[in-house]
Amino acid sequence: MTPPFAGLLPDALLIDLPEIDAQHDQIFGRIEALKAACYGSGPAPLEDFQGLLDYLQFHFATEERMAREAGVDFLDHDRVHQENLQSLHKAFGEVRAGARDVHSFLRYAEYWFERHITEEDKPFADSIRACRLKSPINPSPAARR
Ligand SMILES: [Fe+2]
Repeated sequence: MTPPFAGLLPDALLIDLPEIDAQHDQIFGRIEALKAACYGSGPAPLEDFQGLLDYLQFHFATEERMAREAGVDFLDHDRVHQENLQSLHKAFGEVRAGARDVHSFLRYAEYWFERHITEEDKPFADSIRACRLKSPINPSPAARR
């Protein structure tokens, strides 16, 4: 299911795959909500950090499904996803252990996420579009209507 738009995804980071753009927007929304919560007076909501990591895993699975449907080779992209998740889980583990503060984690997550879109997902979106154009078996969602 496509989540509602948080309205935080800058135009420069749109990749023109609506399902993925909506998820990217949702991820920015979750990061912003965590930043706001961490500047509040209560304890940092660690379960919400885990929720962000779980949502990222769901997001990566969506990209993998789209690649499979379009016939795009996803091995390298999947390897990068696994490395990304490992790094983020490691950083979150440091937060839970008290070795890293939540603000440091969020700065890292936000920087990583923008880089994920520009360096990994923009070329990924180009590959999806190229495969959809080549293969009439896998038309774009717009072409199926
Ligand atoms: Fe992505």
